[in-house]
Amino acid sequence: MGAEVSGDGSEVRVIRSAILWASRDPFLRRWAPRLRGVRWVLAKYMPGETFEAALDAATRLASQGITATFTHLGENVEELSQADLVTKHCLDVLDRVADQGLDAEISVKLTHLGLDLDPEATFENLVRIVERAELLGNWVWIDMESSEYVDRTLDLYGRARERFPNIGICLQACLRRTEEDVRKLVPLSPAIRLVKGAYEEAPPLAFTSRRAIDRNFLRLAIRTLEASRDRRIRLALGTHDVGLIQAVHRLAMARQLAMDEVEVQMLYGIRTPDQLELARRGRDIRVLIAYGSNWYPWFMRRLAERPANALLVIRGFFEASRQTAVGEL
Ligand code: FDA
Repeated sequence: MGAEVSGDGSEVRVIRSAILWASRDPFLRRWAPRLRGVRWVLAKYMPGETFEAALDAATRLASQGITATFTHLGENVEELSQADLVTKHCLDVLDRVADQGLDAEISVKLTHLGLDLDPEATFENLVRIVERAELLGNWVWIDMESSEYVDRTLDLYGRARERFPNIGICLQACLRRTEEDVRKLVPLSPAIRLVKGAYEEAPPLAFTSRRAIDRNFLRLAIRTLEASRDRRIRLALGTHDVGLIQAVHRLAMARQLAMDEVEVQMLYGIRTPDQLELARRGRDIRVLIAYGSNWYPWFMRRLAERPANALLVIRGFFEASRQTAVGEL
């Protein structure tokens, strides 16, 4: 499970913490995206900044038996007018997906829809999006942000789920509270995308060792599957940790829990051979494709997930300058 540099070493934790700090720093947020080395690595995680690039990538994946989720990058908008533009963009995306006949859902962050400014306006934005998705037979996921947003996110999810069937929520296995959150959500017949968690959280709130997070992921997946014996629950395992996915399978089989409808969701560009292999074996695999110009914090969280990627950025500087030098010859 989670091999490579994603171990529990204290050096790794320090590097991870430094990268996550850099993801929040306003100065770096302004300057780092201009660096060619950063952009060189970014290309591994994003097919491009435009929705058209994401659409092309989804079409390619579809031909390989992989469905998609689009996410327009951005978070913590500072004015409600920006949240309104984001909402309109999501409506356009849903229309474009329907026109193309593509199996592609969307995922939104509530702070992108205005949560820091006005929860009611955020709820209205969310309702506009989910309503349009329902009309078009599509689906909307809500990302989970750092722990300070969890209560507000769950509250808006619960209210939206009472009105619409086509909405899911991301839950993070790193948080100690998540088991209780799952228990409270079950009566709503929720759709849950279970992930390990991408934010830095304090030990009182979160498990910090890889092993404890993986154990909690496994426990939460099994609890959710047990609950889905009595009511319909859509469960997606949002992880690239193939060993962990197999562990969920093994434990579910040992407890005679049905796994046929459990999906795997991964991010574009990560463990692509595993994505293709899962699709080849007929598994339900969906890939989240991010796009948009506000990619810096999201990209830095991807770097923090695998600190060896920081070395890739350094290599990127050399690659980018080498390519420029060759171009100049
Ligand atoms: P782990 O970190 O153990 O990685 C397993 C293996 O996957 C690694 O050994 C490596 O090979 C590969 N890998 C993982 N991350 C990599 C990277 N960045 N670059 C290169 N290789 C990498 N989080 C959150 O807090 N809120 C959210 O809403 C979401 N949403 C979401 C949707 C989907 C579809 C996915 C797949 C993930 C998220 N996440 C998220 C991110 C999640 O919390 C977690 O940080 C990442 O998925 C990395 O953890 P893994 O489960 O992949 O395990």
